[in-house]
Amino acid sequence: MVATTKTNRNQRGNSEGERGRTHFNQAEYFIARTLTMLLERQPSLLPILEEFACFDAETLKHSLDVGQITARTLNSCAESFSFPIPSEEIVPHIEAAFFEGTFHDVGKSIIDSKGPKESRIALYPELIEGNGHATPAQLEIIARHAPLGAQMLTILNKEGLLPIEFAPNVIKSAEDHHKKPPDLQRTHNKGEMILLEPQSQIDTLKQTIFVLSDMAEAMRAPRTSRNYYAFPPHTITQVLSAECTDFLIRGILGDGSADSLTIARFRDQIVGYVMKALENLDGVVSQRDYNLQDLPMNGFDWRPVNLEQGVILPKLSEEVWKIVSESGEI
Ligand SMILES: [Fe+2]
Ligand SMILES: [Fe+2]
Repeated sequence: MVATTKTNRNQRGNSEGERGRTHFNQAEYFIARTLTMLLERQPSLLPILEEFACFDAETLKHSLDVGQITARTLNSCAESFSFPIPSEEIVPHIEAAFFEGTFHDVGKSIIDSKGPKESRIALYPELIEGNGHATPAQLEIIARHAPLGAQMLTILNKEGLLPIEFAPNVIKSAEDHHKKPPDLQRTHNKGEMILLEPQSQIDTLKQTIFVLSDMAEAMRAPRTSRNYYAFPPHTITQVLSAECTDFLIRGILGDGSADSLTIARFRDQIVGYVMKALENLDGVVSQRDYNLQDLPMNGFDWRPVNLEQGVILPKLSEEVWKIVSESGEI
């Protein structure tokens, strides 16, 4: 894989005029800004992000949003004077959360063993069926994206397909993002949930915020599986609050005997931070049809073409499914 560098688009004859588009909606500007921030930190990610954008704009937007919400929520926790975990313990996880969120759903691009194109079709069964609902069998196929994503990133590292390595925490997040910390109820997820082992305060906090951010972003998006219905903020707040059980809050507080008033205050604080991060992302409700072709990327030569021309995702799909068929398990 050729290392990607920050280049001037005009040097390659890609003036705005030739690209043909000069107006972008607010959500597209947000995507461009977030991608630019990521690429500033790690330019080698450009090829895989381009292919991920070709796979499905909605999944890319959701993933970038989850990274942003998680990072911003952790930042709010670190800035709070009354937070039970010291800021120096939280701060190192903020940057990491940004990358973890971006790649947590990457396994969706290979949920069908035939490849990314077929996986995109499998990801939206309601569009094929036309009744707005997925069958349990279809949901089961979608649910395997977490372990598949972790495998993908592991192989990416092993085969050296990019001139960078994904850190273990990014792979672990892809693997664990549908697992719950003890007692966190995933009411929105119909798949089977696996309990995580009891963790330290900071790990419980991180996992909780990740899960809540993923849930909140999914709820605010007008998903086709809900016939484009998007949940209003007050409903999202209620659901997130219900997820944060007393047991879980006590785990984050590190105080098994915390009283109910302390727990209620802390629950409101955490959920409030997630909701603030969610509301500050962009003013446009999500939609399926972002045009990611000509994003104003401030110097990065962003060129998602189409899914058929992808190299990395098809290769990873082949490798991962070879392992799955040999081992017989996902
Ligand atoms: Fe997921
Ligand atoms: Fe997700």
